[in-house]
Amino acid sequence: MELIDLKQLADVDEGKISREIFVNDKLYQQELERVFSRAWLFVGHESQVQNPGDFFVSRMGEESVILVRDKAHEIHVFLNSCRHRGMKVCRYESGNTSLFTCPYHSWTYATDGKLRGVPLYKSLYEGVLDKNEWSLIEVAKVTNYKGSIWATWDPEAPEFLEYLGDARQHLDLALDCRDGRPGGAEVVGVHKWVFPSNWKYAAENFLGDTYHNPSHRSVDLIGIGPSAEEGVKGRRDNELEYAQHVWISFAQGHGVHSAVQPEGQEYVEQFKNDPEIEEYFRNCYHERVRLMGDEARLRPFVGTIFPNTSFHGSQPRSLCTWHPHSPTETEGWRFFLVDADAPEKVKKFLRHYYMRYSGPAGMTEQDDLENWLYATQASQGTIARRYAFNYQQSLNVAKLDPVVYGLTIKGEVSTQVSEHMPRGFYKRWADYMAGKPWKELLGHNDTRFVPNQD
Ligand code: FES
Ligand SMILES: [Fe+2]
Repeated sequence: MELIDLKQLADVDEGKISREIFVNDKLYQQELERVFSRAWLFVGHESQVQNPGDFFVSRMGEESVILVRDKAHEIHVFLNSCRHRGMKVCRYESGNTSLFTCPYHSWTYATDGKLRGVPLYKSLYEGVLDKNEWSLIEVAKVTNYKGSIWATWDPEAPEFLEYLGDARQHLDLALDCRDGRPGGAEVVGVHKWVFPSNWKYAAENFLGDTYHNPSHRSVDLIGIGPSAEEGVKGRRDNELEYAQHVWISFAQGHGVHSAVQPEGQEYVEQFKNDPEIEEYFRNCYHERVRLMGDEARLRPFVGTIFPNTSFHGSQPRSLCTWHPHSPTETEGWRFFLVDADAPEKVKKFLRHYYMRYSGPAGMTEQDDLENWLYATQASQGTIARRYAFNYQQSLNVAKLDPVVYGLTIKGEVSTQVSEHMPRGFYKRWADYMAGKPWKELLGHNDTRFVPNQD
């Protein structure tokens, strides 16, 4: 049974989205059932579970899950809930173990999820309890894509790469080494914090909401970029100084903001305060051009993989998840990435920059959080809820051009700021909420938001 008219809630043709989807509890419950129990969700990185027995406790939707590598080196994702009475079998954030012993009555599970130990089994359960039937509950599918681990509860879900579609090229820019080698990243830390806002504010922000730049004015006036160089203001270095920025929507609901450098673009000098760091990144740049050729001209900025995984591809390089707690509360996690084989000095340098920029105490993230939480607060009232949000930016007038500086980019590509990404996101969101089958969720690239391709 449909709870509320979805077309009315997310009217992407008119560019109007109801505030209800950001505050309404019934809709939120429907999201948990129809979005989070089906979509592929990011749960962690292989560098967090390198050895047999390594585990990292993550989340999928509201629920706690355990990402663990078993004795046979296989990666699993289990619901963190005992089969006996539901106690969390693991209450640590991460670590290494050979067994998960439930704190309540001590049922014990191996790292492959199998129920191994049941106290007083012989006298109380022999002949009745079949341990093979009572393993930890495991996700339907799990995949390791260039070190990033994703999982879904839906056995019917398409393979991850089909789900990712052409957004893959952009996610790669966050996951690959700075010198162009595929994968090879490691997580240097995870920031976690709870904020009073709907999860979609954050997801939407990373689809490429460049329009909100004025809210970062105070940070732009000081200069917290990697160089933090005298006279260079802003949050980042000017590595994209000569690039054409692009805003792209994908059929699967994902959206990104990337950039394309002109042909023959030389390395833009950064990190001027430290010649060693400067040389390292200069070498990475040249090596990447050598390895990737023309494709190296595509440079990363931000993106969101539907529904709640976002990334910063370069500065500050990280993957984020926006875990829902309630319609108006979200837990943000930022997984910070560095090349695993980068010199320690480079890792330390980047870690300090990441902390200046991101997380609850980061100078830039604080601006975003304030916007999201005040907007949530001001949208909960009886009167406020009657008025839809406006998503009409570039509706019917976006300039779509897949060829940028001679490089062909897949997806619906705009070369000016645009809200066709959130319109695509909410169109897909409404399809999930309506319980549509997978072929309709992924199958077609709908350009009707931006038909004017002059
Ligand atoms: S709840 Fe886990 S052993 Fe009883
Ligand atoms: Fe921001």
